[in-house]
Amino acid sequence: MKKIAVVGAGYVGLVTSVGLAHIGHQVTCIDIDHKKIDSLRRGQSPIYEQSLEPMIQENQRQNRITFTSNYEELQDAEIIMLAVGTPQLSDGSANLTFIYQAAERIAHTVQQPVTIVVKSTVPVGTCEKLHEYVQERTPHPVELASNPEFLREGSALKDFFEGDRIVIGANHEETSQLIMEMYTPLQIPIMTTDLASAEMIKYASNAFLATKISFINEIASICEKVGANVEDVANGMGMDQRIAPSFLQAGIGYGGSCFPKDTKALVQMAGHVEHRFELLESVIHVNNKQQNKLVDQMKERFDTLLRKRVTVLGLSFKPGTDDLREAASLVIIDRLLREGASITAYDPIAMPRAKEYFPAVTFASNVEEALSESEVAIIVTEWDEFKELPLHYYEELMDEAIIFDGRNCYDLEQVKKHRIEYYSVGRPVIRQTESATLT
Ligand code: UDX
Repeated sequence: MKKIAVVGAGYVGLVTSVGLAHIGHQVTCIDIDHKKIDSLRRGQSPIYEQSLEPMIQENQRQNRITFTSNYEELQDAEIIMLAVGTPQLSDGSANLTFIYQAAERIAHTVQQPVTIVVKSTVPVGTCEKLHEYVQERTPHPVELASNPEFLREGSALKDFFEGDRIVIGANHEETSQLIMEMYTPLQIPIMTTDLASAEMIKYASNAFLATKISFINEIASICEKVGANVEDVANGMGMDQRIAPSFLQAGIGYGGSCFPKDTKALVQMAGHVEHRFELLESVIHVNNKQQNKLVDQMKERFDTLLRKRVTVLGLSFKPGTDDLREAASLVIIDRLLREGASITAYDPIAMPRAKEYFPAVTFASNVEEALSESEVAIIVTEWDEFKELPLHYYEELMDEAIIFDGRNCYDLEQVKKHRIEYYSVGRPVIRQTESATLT
């Protein structure tokens, strides 16, 4: 058992804190946001993440985790994990203000030798500089390690306990050893490397996954023109073990707190060392195009979207989370509003957050209400609730069932059994007439 402090109670910090407490460590989670800490002390999670809240409460009952805004409480920690945000600056680079503020506070608080472990995604070279920065401000010996986070929202705890790998970057063998001991109860392969390589692994992994998504989205656009079906194409490609099936799902592009931010930051970083990362620039460009694609198609289908009653199904950037950061819904709703459409939206989880973004949107309390009297539905997030929705609902509730499905939620053969006009990504358009459905 180790005494560990985690600085930052966002997605990464909170899941890391709870995960480490759950495997037996004594964890103090620190955040300067008093409101967040107050709610956590009451056992309430400030974010929606499957199984997180009960696990917070269980570890509180076992006295393995505490929440505080007071840095003094990290004084006796052997390991301090840094998990504060590194938001995007206007030029796409990472803003390290929170990292350095936290480092400064840590330097002024520690009373014994300490190892700082950077979980936040930081530009390559940051850990090295951070080490000097902290060491210059304290007489106590400081070691530094990079331990990038690969958790996915919606399956964050599962990823903590059963991730594919743990990456540890450090300048000394003993530092890596200490972090490895911390993770011993988890049976996850550990790879150790130097600081810069560990920092780069995180960016390169996210950039590669984003590349896979933009690649399949480009293939999808070609499929639409040549009459192929991107799902079959992706399945066929994924059977090759060198390609692998995951992250080949065509749709309206990637969103979320990592891919958009990290791809832009890596392009920036490359630029700083005079390398133009053209491939990644294209990946970003394709993603922007993809987020606009369904509205472009809608504009082509209807003469105008002015006063069109549009239902938006799904708002979060993916199912299983209420996170709206860089969600395609933001781009789509913004454009629809500018085109003069009248929008009703529904999301099983993200509506309270979405209400802050879109005062001009009507929010329905269920999917039936959202679809009633709608002229066109657009599916933005592939929640199970939409995937499992009986297709006759669209026929019955809408004026005329016209669906633009940005997540390929429905089987084309099933759609053909209904009077539905159906546009999806990388698959043939279905325009089913009444007589065709009867045959
Ligand atoms: C991602 C990484 O997967 C994770 O390792 C890292 O730590 C943080 O960034 P996350 O943003 O939570 O995790 O979600 P992820 O499941 O990776 O999806 C990201 C976006 O890509 C979503 O908008 C999703 O809809 C989209 N996506 C994903 C696709 O469009 N197609 C796919 O095949 C997979």
